[in-house]
Amino acid sequence: MKNISKAKFIITGGAGQLAREFCNLLNKANAKYIALDIDKLDISNIDKLSKICKEYKPDFLINCAAYNNVDAAESEFETALKVNFTGSKNIATLSTELKFKAIHFSTDYVFGGREQFIPFKEQDETAPLNKYGISKLKGEQIFLEISPKNLVFRVSWLYGEGRQNFIYKLLQWTETRNEILIANDEISVPTSTYFVAKNVLEALDSNGLFHLVPDGYVSRYDYAKFVLNKLKIDALVKPISAEYFKLPARRPNFSAMDSALFFSLFNLGKKHWSEYLEEFLVKNKFE
Ligand SMILES: NC(=O)c1ccc[n+]([C@@H]2O[C@H](COP(=O)([O-])OP(=O)(O)OC[C@H]3O[C@@H](n4cnc5c(N)ncnc54)[C@H](OP(=O)(O)O)[C@@H]3O)[C@@H](O)[C@H]2O)c1
Repeated sequence: MKNISKAKFIITGGAGQLAREFCNLLNKANAKYIALDIDKLDISNIDKLSKICKEYKPDFLINCAAYNNVDAAESEFETALKVNFTGSKNIATLSTELKFKAIHFSTDYVFGGREQFIPFKEQDETAPLNKYGISKLKGEQIFLEISPKNLVFRVSWLYGEGRQNFIYKLLQWTETRNEILIANDEISVPTSTYFVAKNVLEALDSNGLFHLVPDGYVSRYDYAKFVLNKLKIDALVKPISAEYFKLPARRPNFSAMDSALFFSLFNLGKKHWSEYLEEFLVKNKFE
């Protein structure tokens, strides 16, 4: 969208990694926004949400709030639903009532995996394997059902500044473990928060559901090796099947998505995931 400096934004889940990336870009564009985390704005509380929206009168609300603990969601399904479904429903309801546009994020974990490594398109059948995926699927469905004018982007394996991502955890493990075991049978697309936020801000005029990830895909194990090689960190990393970890939540073996629809509508560049990752590692002075 042109002229975002003339629009007003509310960012929910303001302390999260994607929210902070939106704040960086909105600052650079001199746009007006408020970013609120759960302590100031719990999206499951429609009265509070309504009050803030009525006072601030946003043109856009970008919902970065989410319950993202994939394993804990197995035993805390109600809590996951409260944020990922009820929160999403509340935002969509208010977007029609108060006439702002709302943007929401979903996940590759709405898919159940597949034998052939063909990245999933928007219209492919969903089949979440875990409660987190179910809560996110219900959230994206109600969001667009209430207002098809709104926007939903499915993203995967997000990384950005901060500690809530795989890269940060991996670097921690290199300091605390003699050998690091990483699943080589979970495949998706590492996606930078910069890539997501930049493209979303260009596409605010559109509506509907889009996959938004860079080109290519990789296993968790090769992703880890890529990061450690680029950072020249000498650590013993071994590939292993995800089953070994006996985690509460099942994950899809392959959940890479195809963003061709989004990039066919917008004349924006898209590169391989490894190029964004390399830029991120350099920019954040890991190297
Ligand atoms: N991270 C990934 O790999 C990934 C993959 C696929 C899709 N996504 C989706 O992408 C979006 C952005 O993810 P992210 O990685 O930026 O998430 P994040 O860093 O975990 O940030 C989410 C933020 O929302 C806050 N929050 C939780 N419940 C809330 C509530 N009821 N009201 C308001 N805020 C609440 C969290 O606070 P607390 O930390 O205190 O709970 C956190 O600050 C989410 O929709 C997520 O589901 C993420």
